Amino acid sequence: MREFILYSRLGRTNSNFENLHDGGRLDIVHECIISSLFLSHGIRKNVVFHAVLNGPPSPPLHLEIEGEYLRDVRTDIHTWHKILKRVLSGRNHPGVSLCKTGFEALLRAKAEKSEIYVLEEGGKDIAETEISANPVFVLGDHVGLPRKAEIFALRYGMKISLGRIPYLAASCITILNYVLDLQSKTTK
Ligand SMILES: C[S@@+](CC[C@H](N)C(=O)[O-])C[C@H]1O[C@@H](n2cnc3c(N)ncnc32)[C@H](O)[C@@H]1O
Repeated sequence: MREFILYSRLGRTNSNFENLHDGGRLDIVHECIISSLFLSHGIRKNVVFHAVLNGPPSPPLHLEIEGEYLRDVRTDIHTWHKILKRVLSGRNHPGVSLCKTGFEALLRAKAEKSEIYVLEEGGKDIAETEISANPVFVLGDHVGLPRKAEIFALRYGMKISLGRIPYLAASCITILNYVLDLQSKTTK
């Protein structure tokens, strides 16, 4: 299993938005969902994606998407606009769930069973890091991880880097999936 946690500073916590961008950059959440879970013609059943939404009106909300149970989806933004609106208004979609858990509580729970890796340009080079079998990767949104969240996450994990170039969060996830695929880690 591999997991990705996106800290979304502004992601809207109800369904009151016209488009994903204006919903507190939920377009970044969409991009990260696609990079985490989608293969060409398939879904990664060994991946769980999390976004902690910290935008108005009632933060935090923990969005969880489990590849194993995800159904009736495509990759386009229109599909995910509908799915996110649906779950944020209290309705269901297979493999997608919402709960009131915040970033700290989620990390604490994950750290009991998994190694935590905090993605940051200044961290330890991933090429020199032994990634464990069931890794949990933490990423910031377009602004980056808030200092307080980073300090908290580093109580449980280590900083790793994909190099000095600042990538989009979704690009980081694509790179991580690629690196782990090459190592054939967490394929189940
Ligand atoms: C768009 S970047 C934000 C960049 C922003 N300059 C910052 O202060 O972090 C979003 C997230 O991607 C991750 N990231 C981007 N480039 C990275 C790199 N080269 N190595 C590791 N993580 C990276 C970090 O988790 C970052 O918070």
